[in-house]
Amino acid sequence: PAINLDLDPETMVARVPLFAALPPDAVRQISRLLRPVLAVPGEMVVRKGEGGDAMYFVASGAVEVMVTPRPVRLGSGDFFGEMALISGAPRSADISSLGFCSLLVLRADDFQSLVSASPVLREHIHDTARRRSGEAASE
Ligand code: CMP
Repeated sequence: PAINLDLDPETMVARVPLFAALPPDAVRQISRLLRPVLAVPGEMVVRKGEGGDAMYFVASGAVEVMVTPRPVRLGSGDFFGEMALISGAPRSADISSLGFCSLLVLRADDFQSLVSASPVLREHIHDTARRRSGEAASE
């Protein structure tokens, strides 16, 4: 996504249900690490096989993860691109934007800071990655 959103990251972060429950201090700290971007309809945000340099939180709109047997839709409060950051493996699926979608980008080198700001978030991200890679393995 190339379009930078002129929106206060802290406001956007507070709108993501996943972050809303965190202490205000953690929200502020996390906001500093996230860059808001807008994906246009049909834009490929993540390409299967590429290296992972960031993960993404969906602030509004939806994306489609091209996994088998059927694509998975992720929306507000969901995240993606965490698997490559955790495992170091290439991207496991293509992901494209359904309509306009505002995303919060977390660079790989800021991932550690984010998860140390919130152990709860860290557990949630790791659990989700484990579940998703288990789904891929059981096909
Ligand atoms: P990553 O492998 O970095 O890039 C592709 C992303 O697709 C992956 O991280 C996950 O965030 C997401 N993903 C992979 N499999 C699934 C799944 N079964 N359901 C939802 N999202 C998935």
